[in-house]
Amino acid sequence: MQTRKIGQVTVSAIGLGGMPMSIEGRPDEDRSIRTIHAALDSGVTLIDTADAYHLNAGETGHNERLIAKALASYPGDTTGVLVATKGGHLRPGDGSWTVDGSPAHLREAVEASMKALGVDVIGLYQFHRPDPKVPYAESIGGLKELLDAGKIRMAGISNASIEQIDTARGILGEGNLASVQNQFSPAFRSSEAELRYCAGLGIAFLPWSPLGGIGRAGGLGARHAAFQEVADAHGVSPQRVTLAWMLALAPVVIPIPGASRPESITDSAQAPGLELTEAELSRLTAA
Ligand SMILES: NC(=O)c1ccc[n+]([C@@H]2O[C@H](COP(=O)([O-])OP(=O)(O)OC[C@H]3O[C@@H](n4cnc5c(N)ncnc54)[C@H](OP(=O)(O)O)[C@@H]3O)[C@@H](O)[C@H]2O)c1
Repeated sequence: MQTRKIGQVTVSAIGLGGMPMSIEGRPDEDRSIRTIHAALDSGVTLIDTADAYHLNAGETGHNERLIAKALASYPGDTTGVLVATKGGHLRPGDGSWTVDGSPAHLREAVEASMKALGVDVIGLYQFHRPDPKVPYAESIGGLKELLDAGKIRMAGISNASIEQIDTARGILGEGNLASVQNQFSPAFRSSEAELRYCAGLGIAFLPWSPLGGIGRAGGLGARHAAFQEVADAHGVSPQRVTLAWMLALAPVVIPIPGASRPESITDSAQAPGLELTEAELSRLTAA
């Protein structure tokens, strides 16, 4: 497995997104554990989660607990695995997603995430989504407090504009914004500007829903003919082609494809080994 950097930490070039294992349509726990173990077997050392990846009220941290359980029961060495979680999003249990970007909430949320993950410091903590009711600088100030207090080793942001990236860099201090996680896929390219901006600054860029999202990822090849045709030429899946294309866009890109089946992440984890020609990459970028 090729590696990339988040801050000073080396991680696999492909991460595992935990969301499909904890929200609507989630599998039983046994299949989820097998999926996480399959990721580890494939050399994945980055797992993305969030306290809000759960379904019902009262089960905040469902995905974090699942990941902690899978890591604890894995027979191999997991010391090099970075679990990246997030705070600032909530699910009241009626299917909706709400936000609370207040520093007071982040202080509470980080403690709950530490407990759910069974750690006394969180490797990478990402501010999940801007809260229109709280000035962005205030939320990032809350993140900085967590960093200064040693509750989190690295700080990241998610769903952020270039202006917000700059606000976060200014408040967190030189070199302390480790990652930006935005939506980016063949169908959703509007955060390419943030991707390029992060590439210029050497900040890790984690595309979320890189395959088009839960329930849509399977139909990627049918919706994007160029990705299917390149896949056919290499005898691989269009999902693997998509991830290989993203990796080629910039060395800071670390896609985090979600999975709820071992086969999905085993396939996705092979993307760094797929070499696409310059002509293929240009074609996919233009498609
Ligand atoms: N920051 C944010 O606001 C935000 C928002 C959304 C998501 N995220 C993060 O980003 C991660 C990825 O996004 P996502 O899960 O929404 O969408 P996604 O990665 O685009 O798609 C996930 C689906 O892709 C399927 N899949 C994965 N690899 C495949 C392969 N090689 N071949 C065929 N199918 C494959 C999986 O199917 P199976 O379920 O059948 O395995 C899974 O359900 C999430 O898990 C979460 O960690 C963050």
